[in-house]
Amino acid sequence: MAPEGIEQVLGDDFDPTKPETFWSAHEEYRELRQRCPVAHSNAWGGFWALFRYQDVVAVLRDPETYTTSVQNVVPRFAFTGRRPPLHLDPPEHTAYRRVINRFFRPERIGRLEPVVRREVLGLLEPLLAAGGGDISRDLAHKLPAYVFAEFFNVPRDLSMTIREITVEYVRAIQQTDDERVKQYSGELYGIARTIIEDRTAHPFDPEEDMTSALLTAQWNGEPLPADMVLGTVRQLIVTGMVAPSIFIGSMFAHLAMHPEIQEILRQNPDKIPVAVEEYLRLLSPYRGMARTARRDVVIGGRTIHQDEPIALVYASANRDETVFPDGDAFRLDRPNLSQHIAFGLGPHNCPGAPLARMMFQITLEETLSRTRAIRLDGPLAMTRWAEWGVISCPVRLETVSPGDR
Ligand code: HEM
Repeated sequence: MAPEGIEQVLGDDFDPTKPETFWSAHEEYRELRQRCPVAHSNAWGGFWALFRYQDVVAVLRDPETYTTSVQNVVPRFAFTGRRPPLHLDPPEHTAYRRVINRFFRPERIGRLEPVVRREVLGLLEPLLAAGGGDISRDLAHKLPAYVFAEFFNVPRDLSMTIREITVEYVRAIQQTDDERVKQYSGELYGIARTIIEDRTAHPFDPEEDMTSALLTAQWNGEPLPADMVLGTVRQLIVTGMVAPSIFIGSMFAHLAMHPEIQEILRQNPDKIPVAVEEYLRLLSPYRGMARTARRDVVIGGRTIHQDEPIALVYASANRDETVFPDGDAFRLDRPNLSQHIAFGLGPHNCPGAPLARMMFQITLEETLSRTRAIRLDGPLAMTRWAEWGVISCPVRLETVSPGDR
């Protein structure tokens, strides 16, 4: 910490904009956890980044000091509107989560299981027949959109359109191209508006449809404000599509590099849920969300001033060796695996986690039971901050005949 009266000089401790390989960011974060766990970057107007698990968790548990209402990701791009639940703090946030959470209860997610399996098989079978393809492009890009269509009661074509716009929107954010961010965000708002108009004209059962539930919900005896319902639908149509697509690509890339893990899971399919959990820890697709300090704070001996943005680097926290020994390795026997924070923690923890887990488990079950080997068949392409992971994963799939299964 700088002595009292002396301003600390903010260095450029790391560069989040440089291109990455499958390993490079994690190698850098391992080093930063030792050398500079509370780091400052000059990118995007300057921001702090927390790399240690305990520091990240302490911020997530303290929404009174650290707000999401200014920006929930670095670089800041939420200048296009307030979108619950991510952009609100409790208690305002609670009104929206009460409605959203109902739709992720186990019995409702359980009912989607056959649908998810059908969608996985529909995408997997052409890949198996062709002996391979690009998992990211041919499966991971589409699956979350098809599942979301069922989950949110929207036509599959519309869901795929949302997915395509989302890809451009995320790319514009990563390139800090504000004009294109505004353009694509505007298009997504337009779609959210259409869904709301449709439900207003033709209401669904609010027990079965999230938009209808938001339109009829009451909070303190009042309906939810119309602009905030719009913001919520706009948030929901995007949030559930980005991370699953990247994560499936990353999982396949790791599996393809580790035939011994494939074999363990083929022999022991009951271990697939643990494997998915360990992959969420190891290959966390939301590299980091952000909070803003409401007052001056000291973390790890460094002073972070009021209003300065702080990125919480989940991807690094989840490999912190003080919490997850041998954190860079895939292991099926971690006693504290449930402590990973790939889905966040605290009031903004991911409501979609049960649906995401089911998608990933079924994808692995169906792929591993139908293949003898998954091998890489070309170079991987990586996404950029604020996501982490694979966006192109060419593989060869050696299939087994049905009789061998
Ligand atoms: C690999 C899959 C997924 C990962 C890793 C993931 C991760 C996360 C994380 C880390 C947050 C917390 C953000 C923060 O702390 O600021 C979050 C929030 C959220 N996620 Fe997910 N998510 C995934 C899939 C989904 C899916 C499939 C849906 C919906 C269908 C979804 C809906 C949401 C929503 C609505 C929020 C906002 C919650 C709030 O602000 O209260 N997510 N997610």
